[in-house]
Amino acid sequence: MLYGADYNPDQWPEEVWPEDVRLMREAGVTTVSLGIFAWSRIQPTEDSWDFAWLDRVIDTLHAGGIGVNLATATASPPPWVSATYPDTLPADEHGASYWPGSRQHFAPSSPTYRRLAGELVRRLAERYVSHPGVIMWHVNNEYGCHLWMDYSDNARDAYRRWLRERYETIDALNAAWGTSFWSQRYSRFDEIFPPRLAPYSHNPSSMLDFRRFTSDMLLECYLMEREILLEAGATQPITTNFMGPFKPADYRRWAPHMDVIADDCYPDPTNPNRVRDAAFQRDLVRSLKPELPWILMEQATDAVNWRPTNPGKAPGVLAAETAQSIGRGADGIMFFQWRQSRAGSEKFHSAMLPHAGTDTRIWREVTDLGERLAALPELPAPGRDARVAIVFDWENWWAVEERDHPVDVEYLPIVVEWYGAFHRRGIGVDLIPAELVDAGYDLVVAPALYLLRDEGAEALNAFVRGGGTLLAGPFTDVVDGHDQFRAGGFLTQLGPALGIRFEDFAALGRSSGGAMGVGALSVAVAGGKQEDVPFEVGGTTAHATLFAEVVRPEGAEAVATFGAGRSVGAPALTRNAHGEGEAWYVATMPDAAGVDAIAGLVIEAAGVEPIIAEVPAGVEVARRGGLVTVINHGDEPAAVTLTATDIETDERHDTWQLAPQQVRFLRTD
Ligand code: GLA
Repeated sequence: MLYGADYNPDQWPEEVWPEDVRLMREAGVTTVSLGIFAWSRIQPTEDSWDFAWLDRVIDTLHAGGIGVNLATATASPPPWVSATYPDTLPADEHGASYWPGSRQHFAPSSPTYRRLAGELVRRLAERYVSHPGVIMWHVNNEYGCHLWMDYSDNARDAYRRWLRERYETIDALNAAWGTSFWSQRYSRFDEIFPPRLAPYSHNPSSMLDFRRFTSDMLLECYLMEREILLEAGATQPITTNFMGPFKPADYRRWAPHMDVIADDCYPDPTNPNRVRDAAFQRDLVRSLKPELPWILMEQATDAVNWRPTNPGKAPGVLAAETAQSIGRGADGIMFFQWRQSRAGSEKFHSAMLPHAGTDTRIWREVTDLGERLAALPELPAPGRDARVAIVFDWENWWAVEERDHPVDVEYLPIVVEWYGAFHRRGIGVDLIPAELVDAGYDLVVAPALYLLRDEGAEALNAFVRGGGTLLAGPFTDVVDGHDQFRAGGFLTQLGPALGIRFEDFAALGRSSGGAMGVGALSVAVAGGKQEDVPFEVGGTTAHATLFAEVVRPEGAEAVATFGAGRSVGAPALTRNAHGEGEAWYVATMPDAAGVDAIAGLVIEAAGVEPIIAEVPAGVEVARRGGLVTVINHGDEPAAVTLTATDIETDERHDTWQLAPQQVRFLRTD
């Protein structure tokens, strides 16, 4: 179990370093991520390099028994880079430059940035690749975190190259983008620009490709660094830190290139769904390489600095949130950062070692946690434990949230709402693209899977034929991988398995004060209530949101019907036996009560069992091989029933009492 933090000794005088190592040992630190923002210290000018200080830090840490996850330091180019090579700077959609003075001010597609970053990585690699203290490589930092899109001239040139490789001929691109619409037909790749500021909406198929390109450019930067490390003889694991459900980077495509998945997670203490949302993130990153433990590369010990209000964690929450990661597959618990900064934008950000010193609650919680983690026996590797999968797909995320749809859809809250119905019940869930659905699951949920690739559709159909239970909808199987309608209407791929025909999206509106005419357009006057479309399902009155689609059964049974509105009488929920399995369709995004009721029905239909029978409110359970982690996140004591042995105390019980924030790691075998 790794335990530690980002370590930025370049922010401190050298006298502080031995004290750092002494206190790290006191806190149980095993590993630090070193020098993530140290480029300007390592290479103060283009022609000067200073590794002596880094040699001393690494040696000091190594002598103290602290492993180094050595950063490649390429995330924040030094001032001389930006001043000498303005072509390294990214641009916004107006073509205006992002300037230096913060961090991440590099255009991922800039050849100059790549050349300079590559040289830095090569020198670091050659110097430290055989150092016994270096146990891992930390490439760059949170790729794309602040800069979601780059529209610079470098991006323009790289985009044209990328499109040429993807489509080979301009005719193929014209067909994929549907450029007959609005006179957008291209005759040369050199006529194409990034989607810079335009009078009205960009071609949605081009937007989808620009997002793919953006993710690929960041990935190319990572791969370039990885290649340099490997060429220099690196044998340590190489990774970069992900940010869970981060829209700009399709981590599903990145994951094969990570030796170990690393993730940064900062649950918001003010979020009433903090526990569910963080569990979702952890299951998402676990699902990227389900057979391997992952590393929580950053969390905060207490408050962050970057939200409008930054309350800290309540006592005990640090250990409880940490256990959530471990229960969901993490074998490393790291923080941002070791010692709280004295200067800079993050001086109010918490750290393992607070500015207020060691006589603080945070320090005590940090050292207690270090001691506890060090004493844990070896944990089972996470495996294919989940019987349920929810389809989560980046390309679909990009496409479904484009504009000009029947209604604006936010993908993540929809997926997370469905996830919550399983989380609440203590049922493990994998989060995977449709292509990875297989007979290892009993139940698969595919909400708002608007963009459905042929291979994904084939996997879902095979799953149902082979005996699985599928719940799909709404706004699912609408377009192909180019964001174009397929011939033959909607639900062209899944309709036969679902036993329904699709007629109309029937977006739900909000009543308003009417519409105010502005030229040819009209602007809805704000306010009003969402159209109320109730339906009865599983003994619950649910309400439709976003859509009350009109689907017609063609073999399926209507389990629930819309009780009002334009779609009154049309099925809200259908169920169809198909092959050895069955396929359900929900023609709306139900409210929370509806999601819960429908989840209950399909769980029962699929015969999925929870990890423990009754999960009290506020309690979370997660399975990791033979290990069941039970956490009481609530404010009241709770009891759970499970015959098991506590791996920390060796007690064996059938019933477990848990105080607020208490964690139990239980072995069921
Ligand atoms: C991110 C970054 C860190 C730091 C933290 C602060 O995770 O990777 O460098 O800025 O945020 O929360």
